[in-house]
Amino acid sequence: MEFLDRLFNKPKIYILMHKDIQVLSGEYNEEKHRFEKIIHIFSYDHLPYSVRKGENGVSLKRLDHWFRWRGIPDYRVGLNVLLDHLDISDQRDLLDKEYGLSVSDHYWIREEKEHVSYADLNFFERPYDQDSFGISMFASSRFKSPKSGLHTPNNTLCGYQKKAWFQRNGVNVLLKGGTPIYQQEPVNEWLASEIANRLGIDAIQYHVEIYENQLVSVCDNMLDLDTELITAEEVLSLAKPDKDVFWLTPYQKTLTEMGIADAGKKLDDLLVLDFIMTNTDRHNQNLGVIRDANTLQWLKVAPIFDTGTGLGCLKEDNDIANFDEFYHYRLFNSDNILDNICVHLILNLKRYDFSVLDGIESLYEERLRKYQRLTGITDRRIDLLTSLLRRRIEILKHAQ
Ligand SMILES: Nc1ncnc2c1ncn2[C@@H]1O[C@H](COP(=O)(O)OP(=O)(O)O)[C@@H](O)[C@H]1O
Ligand SMILES: [Mg+2]
Repeated sequence: MEFLDRLFNKPKIYILMHKDIQVLSGEYNEEKHRFEKIIHIFSYDHLPYSVRKGENGVSLKRLDHWFRWRGIPDYRVGLNVLLDHLDISDQRDLLDKEYGLSVSDHYWIREEKEHVSYADLNFFERPYDQDSFGISMFASSRFKSPKSGLHTPNNTLCGYQKKAWFQRNGVNVLLKGGTPIYQQEPVNEWLASEIANRLGIDAIQYHVEIYENQLVSVCDNMLDLDTELITAEEVLSLAKPDKDVFWLTPYQKTLTEMGIADAGKKLDDLLVLDFIMTNTDRHNQNLGVIRDANTLQWLKVAPIFDTGTGLGCLKEDNDIANFDEFYHYRLFNSDNILDNICVHLILNLKRYDFSVLDGIESLYEERLRKYQRLTGITDRRIDLLTSLLRRRIEILKHAQ
């Protein structure tokens, strides 16, 4: 069977590239969108950390996993409509449509015989058909995207929420939607930026816009032609912690060993912001560090991003009144961290002056009201949300 597969589906030779560095060559199955045999490793150092095997090998299984998870997952909100608009049957078909290029890292693939350079291809500098993909992702009405809609960095953009990159004034900006009915996440992301600014925490700056009649958060790309995101998942594949220990300490230790001096402070910032926002989604793809893509040096902890999933955004009104009593924080390999444990994980809670947040719930209220006609959320929900926010800040003040 495998023999016939290979006969009719003859794999081609592809190169995995990192900017203009050749990383590895292998037989690549264009139907299945995966490397099936490694031929040569050109640069072990430039391999994604998670695909390395031993001192100089590659795990095909992990390479496949890594490549697939750069793409659109099968649980993306609005996936069927997106596929219909783009006229493709499976989101995995997008993985290599545009050389697997991304604007969150600098990996891409090309056929061995094709000679193209990263300078010509990369989407940090090259324009793309942003509107066709954007409309395909967000619009619910009928739309038939031209083929150019398939050639964007959105093919390698992971995550649950509807989202699309747009280019504004030469910068890639990310538009990201919220979960239908309440669409609270974009407003929450704006709120988290506001809280972070007041507390001096380095977080992505989100603001709220309306796109295709939906609320979206908008932020600038935190990366550029010389920097890339290394997610906690990649970091932890270096640390290789045991499954039955909590991964916070190994994570911090690896960051420190890789030269990031303020790792402890930055993790405190994350815990504080997530505590206030009652974030329920801090999994290994939702935090990381920024690496110099040329020297491979780790530069700093990435600004905190994906801050919207919290403050009861997935709960019905009646479940928000005492949401925090039942709230469990999710971080790394634990999704069961209670408030009192979370507070103890913060190394130096005293360094934060929470009085700068006084009155912030009125701003939150104002913003939720501004979009009420679109989201349809009730006055009662807004009251419940603002008092939940106030309680979170009070708990931290009292814990100091
Ligand atoms: N500002 C940004 N700059 C560069 N890459 C980003 C930025 N925001 C998100 N990303 C990338 O996009 C992915 C999905 O974004 P995220 O905000 O986590 O969406 P979701 O809420 O759907 O999980 C992130 O894991 C990260 O790789
Ligand atoms: Mg995410």
